[in-house]
Order: sequence, then structure tokens, then C-alpha cells
Amino acid sequence: MNQRIVNVGTPDGDYRVVVGAGVLSSIATATADALGHEPAHVFIVADAGVPESARAAVIDSFAALGASVHVHVVRPSERDKSIETLEAILAAMARTRHERSDPVVALGGGIVGDTAGFAAACYRRGVPIVQCPTTLLAMVDASVGGKTAVNLAVPGADGAPELRKNFVGAFHQPILVVADIAMLSTLSDRHFRCGLAECIKHGMIASEAGDDQLGPWTASALDAAIARDAATLIELIARNIALKATIVGRDTRETDPAGGRMLLNLGHTFAHAIEPIHHLTPDGDAAHAPLHHGEAVSLGLAAAAHCATALGHCDSSVESQALETLASVGLPTRIRNLSETGRIVDAMLHDKKVSGNTLRLVLPIGPGRARVFSDPPIEAVRHAIDSIRA
Ligand code: GLY
Repeated sequence: MNQRIVNVGTPDGDYRVVVGAGVLSSIATATADALGHEPAHVFIVADAGVPESARAAVIDSFAALGASVHVHVVRPSERDKSIETLEAILAAMARTRHERSDPVVALGGGIVGDTAGFAAACYRRGVPIVQCPTTLLAMVDASVGGKTAVNLAVPGADGAPELRKNFVGAFHQPILVVADIAMLSTLSDRHFRCGLAECIKHGMIASEAGDDQLGPWTASALDAAIARDAATLIELIARNIALKATIVGRDTRETDPAGGRMLLNLGHTFAHAIEPIHHLTPDGDAAHAPLHHGEAVSLGLAAAAHCATALGHCDSSVESQALETLASVGLPTRIRNLSETGRIVDAMLHDKKVSGNTLRLVLPIGPGRARVFSDPPIEAVRHAIDSIRA
């Protein structure tokens, strides 16, 4: 079987990421290897959008080892990435008498992986989690590195709740990640493109982790990736995970003020402010609103590149290259009906990455290179937001 293994080393534990076609069917033995014992009891948190066949593959694999298996299905929406969903998962785990050495398996996209990961981090002060990402975005980003969280609804000034993304969470490294590319054959083109936004982001910072080739290679591999060529997908996912593993290994808890893991947030401070705006649509068709995370990241990368160029941090060719690559796969770099600029700046100031009321932005400084800038001139931030208005 054509598969790749990427090792992730962190102070909180080392683990393997298995990437290949059909690898979900051997998840039970891989989990037993990672645990050091055969699991007697497994709690699966399954994304409602994942095909029944994937759920069956995971259940059958554990059942063949003699484990009892419980499945809890959750909806993959930002609204459902909530304290209420977390509580329901924890209560179901308690009801099934889940023990501290029993693994949780997260089967789904990033929303489900983050929520199940946080449940595993909290339940009885922490149980093992195996991440089985089923979207490209979750494979190349969310499933690796141990960030887990749910959103928090906070009453705004007008009393209406504002959703603060990933505001309550914990670092909880998985014991194993199983990325089965068979899951990508049923993924919509729109969801697939969203994963490519994170791959393009990785290419824009890869030289900071010693990989000068990731950006150019990704640009050359995009057509084959979009055609879902299996060998290209395995290579794309493995290379992106290796890049993330290097960055996470150096700064696991994102404490390096000079950059470190924070570099992975390139474009995300803009994206997190744009993503909750419910009327935005990537292609002008209102039926496609709201934006998906990867689409907001694409707009955020465009805004960050513009901001960096305007501030003289990089040559304009970095911005034009980023815009061209994003547009070449159909990701948005401009959007109609964006809210008033001041509101977006306010939302950016609420982002988790704000420290002591100081905005910190990751901006490109060259091909494959980026830095964290504290307190960037707000006028430049405003211009960057205006640059992505269609
Ligand atoms: N997705 C950014 C990180 O894992 O740090």
C-alpha cells in the first residue's frame, strides 16, 4: 500500500501521522501500537457529514480487535462547535463508562476534530485521542499539532451573542493521526479548495522551517491535486504535515514572541474577522453563503500580502504570486459586500492573538518567509481590508 509516515515530536509526546489510501481499515492496530495495549473500549466522535462506509471501516477495525465501540455523531457547523456539544460528548463518554486509558477517535473535518480533541483533553483530565481527518484542510492543518477548542458565544454590546472562534480550548496532542486519502474522493470541490488555502499558506512560510521548495512545489502540483491524483495527494499531505511538524516541534504552545508557531496564523487574523460575516459568499451566489474557513483564509492571505507590500516588508511580487496561486485554484482574493472596514478592524482587535490590546499580524517578508509584526499601522490594515473588496 502506498503510504507515508510523518513523525511529529513535541515536548508533550511524539506521534505518527499515517497518510495513504485505505489506511482507516488498519486504524485499530495502529492505535494499539500507539497506546501500547489493545483498546478494550473506544469512543468515536463522528462528523455527520462523513460517509457511512468510513464510520463502518473504523468500527469494524476496532471490533476485529475485540473492542466495544460507541459512536457519537456531531454536526460539523461553527454553531455546533460549542460548549453544549462538548457537554453532550462528555456526558455520553461518562454514560459509556469511558476509562482514562480508553481512546477517543475523532472522525471528521476540523470542527469535529477540534471539538472531540477538547473533549478528550477535559474528560477525567485527559484521555488519548486519535485524529482521523476526513477533509484536506483537517489533514494538512487541524489534525496535527494538538490545538483543540470550541467557540464561545459572548453577549455583544447590543446583547446579541458574538461567536468568538476557538476561544475555549487546550493543547492536547493526539497519540496518532490517520489521514486516509480515500476520504477526499467524495469531498466537494469547494471543501477541497479550502484545504489548498492552508497548503498555499504553508508554502508562504516554509523557508522559515528550512523548506525552500514547498511553495514552488505546491504551485506545480496544484493541477494534479485538484484532479485528486492519489500519489500527488499523499505527497502534498505528507509535505504539509512535515512542515507543520517542524514548526510545532520548535514552539508547541505558541509562546515564541518572534514567530514560531504563530507563523501558521498567516492570514488568519484577517480571516477570523471575516469568517463570521454571514452574508458573504465566495462566488456572488447567495445560496453559497457564508464563507468556509479556507475561503476566509484565502482572503486573509491576500490582505496580509497587500499589507506587507504597502508597509515595504516585501516585494510586490510576493503579493502578486500569492494572488495568482490562490486564484488559480478558484479561491477568492476579493469579495463583494464586505462589512464596513472599522467593524472588521474591531473584530481583528478581539482576536485571540491580540496581546495587551496590541494587534500582532503575521506578514510575508519574502518568498516562503514571514514575520510577526506588533502594532502595525492601523491605516495599512484598513487599506489591506479594502484591497480585498470586489
Ligand atoms: N492552525 C494553526 C496551528 O495549528 O497552530
